[in-house]
Amino acid sequence: MRTAIYPGSFDPVTLGHLDIIRRASVMFDRLVVSVMHNQNKKPLFTVEERMAFLRRTTESLPNVEIASFDGLLADYARREGACAVVKGLRAVSDFEYEFQMALANRKLNPELDTVFLMTSAEYMYLSSSVVKDIAVHGGSIAGFVPDALEAEIVCRTRKEG
Ligand code: PNS
Repeated sequence: MRTAIYPGSFDPVTLGHLDIIRRASVMFDRLVVSVMHNQNKKPLFTVEERMAFLRRTTESLPNVEIASFDGLLADYARREGACAVVKGLRAVSDFEYEFQMALANRKLNPELDTVFLMTSAEYMYLSSSVVKDIAVHGGSIAGFVPDALEAEIVCRTRKEG
C-alpha cells in the first residue's frame, strides 16, 4: 500500500488542485489530501469549510481521503505511513520555495520523498489567492473553481472582502 500526502492550504480548492489530485490518485494506492496550517497565510475559509469543499469535489475518487493537520508535515507523513508528499509546480517561481521544503522535509523524515507534478498548462496562472482576488473585485471565477462551489465561494469572498 503506497500512501502519499498532498498538503496545502486549499483556501479554497481550485481546478488546478483538482487536476493534481486526480493525477496523483492514479499514481498511489492511497492519497491523503490534507488541509494544513500555513503560518504565513491568514485563511478566508475555516479548515472544516476547506475540507468540505474538497470532500464534495473528490467524491468520485475512492482512494482519496480528506484530512487536516496542524504541525510538521514530516511527522504527519510518518504517522500516516506515507512514502511521498505530492506537490504541484506551476512556474519557476514556485521552485525555490518547494525545493527548500522538500529538502527540509527529507532531512526531518529520510523516508519521505517529494513528488512534483507539473501543472497542466491551462492552470499555470491559477492559485487560491488569484481566485479570491477576482471574486472580491466582482469578476467571474467560472472555470477557476469546481462549478458546484462557485456560488458559495463568491458569496463568502464578497462578504469578507
Ligand atoms: O498551499 P500552501 O499554503 O502552499 O501549503 C503550504 C504547506 C501547508 C504545505 C506548508 O506550509 C507546510 O508543509 N506546512 C506544515 C508545517 C511544516 O511542516 N513546515 C516545515 C516545512 S519544511
